[in-house]
Amino acid sequence: MAEFQSKIRTIQWTNNCSRMVDQTKFPYEYKYVDITSGDEMFHAIRDMIVRGAPAIGIAGAHGIVLYAIELGKQNISRDEFISKLIEKADYMKTSRPTAVNLMWAVEKQKEIIKNSTSSIDGIIKELTDNGIKLENEDIEINKKIGGFGAEVVPKGATILTHCNAGALATVGYGTALGVVRSAFAKDNTIRVFADETRPRQQGARITTLELTMDGIPTTLITDGMCSYFMKKGMIDMVVVGADRIAANGDAANKIGTYTVAIAAKYHNIPFYIAAPLSTIDTSIATGDEIVIEERSREEVTHINGKIICAPEVNIINPGFDVTPNELIAGIITEVGILRPNYRESIAKAFLK
Ligand code: MRU
Repeated sequence: MAEFQSKIRTIQWTNNCSRMVDQTKFPYEYKYVDITSGDEMFHAIRDMIVRGAPAIGIAGAHGIVLYAIELGKQNISRDEFISKLIEKADYMKTSRPTAVNLMWAVEKQKEIIKNSTSSIDGIIKELTDNGIKLENEDIEINKKIGGFGAEVVPKGATILTHCNAGALATVGYGTALGVVRSAFAKDNTIRVFADETRPRQQGARITTLELTMDGIPTTLITDGMCSYFMKKGMIDMVVVGADRIAANGDAANKIGTYTVAIAAKYHNIPFYIAAPLSTIDTSIATGDEIVIEERSREEVTHINGKIICAPEVNIINPGFDVTPNELIAGIITEVGILRPNYRESIAKAFLK
C-alpha cells in the first residue's frame, strides 16, 4: 500500500494534557495549544479550536481523561468518582451535535469507566491508555482509507474536495485527503481543487494550507464554481469526508456538500465519501434523523470581523447538510469501499 509521509499531527496526549493545533488561527498562525482541563476541552471543541469529526472524537476522549484527573484530586469515594465522571462524559457529548465520532469516542471511554474494576488511579490510567490507543488507531485507519481510496483515483485525476477532511480534521493523514495523499504517493500528477467552504472557509483556510504544507498541487475555487469546472471536464472525481452517516448511507457533511453531489451526478462524475466506520451511526435509519448544528449569525454576516451585509438582514446558518445515498458512488472506509445497496454493505461492514 502506498504511503505518504505527512508533516501534520493535529492532536496528541502529551505530559498529562492534550496538545492540539489551534485551528481558529489559520492561515495566519500555525501554533499548538495545551488543553489542561475537561471544561477547557469542552470549549475547545465547541469553539472549533479542534474541529473535524475524527479529531473531535479524540479530543472528547482526551477530555474525559482530563475530567478524570480533576475528579481524582477531589476527596470522593470511587462510586462518586464514577457517577460524576459519567455525568461529565455525557456533558462532553453535547459540545457539538452532528459529528457522531465525538459520541463514539466518549462512549468508548464510558465503557471503561463502567466496566473497570480498578481503583480511581487505575481507571485514570486505563482512560489515558485508551485515549492514546484511539489516537494512534485513527492514523492507521486513515492510512487504510487512503489505500482503498487510491485504487479508484484515475491516473492524473483532478479531485474536488469540500471543506477539510484532512490531517487537520483527524489525528493525522486525513480521510478524504488521506485518499489524496495515498493517490499522490502513487501518482504525483494528481491535482486537487478545494472549495473554499463558506461560511467558515475550512477549504480555503485549512485544506489549502495542509495540502501546500505537504507539497500537493492545489487550486482554490469558491463554492459556486464547482459545476462550472465540472462542465468543462476539469474534475474527474469528488472525495469528501463525513460527520455522520446513517444506516442507509445518507451522509452529513459540511454545508454545501449536497450541492456538490448533485452537480457531480449531473455531470457523471463519481462522488465518494471517505470516513471511518466510527462515523457511521447504525442507530439511525436515514439521514433525516441527523441533528444539524445551527451556528452563529456572525459566521455569515462577517468576514474577518467586518460586516458584509445589511446589518439587520435575517440569517440561517446550518453547519451541515445531508447528501442522499443515491448520489454517493462509494463510502471509502478502513475495511474497503462500501457500495450501494448501502443498507446491506454497511451492515456487512460492521460484521467484519
Ligand atoms: O465544522 P467542522 O469544521 O468540524 O466540520 C467538519 C468537517 O470538517 C467536515 O464536514 C468534514 O468534511 C468531515 S470531518 C473529516
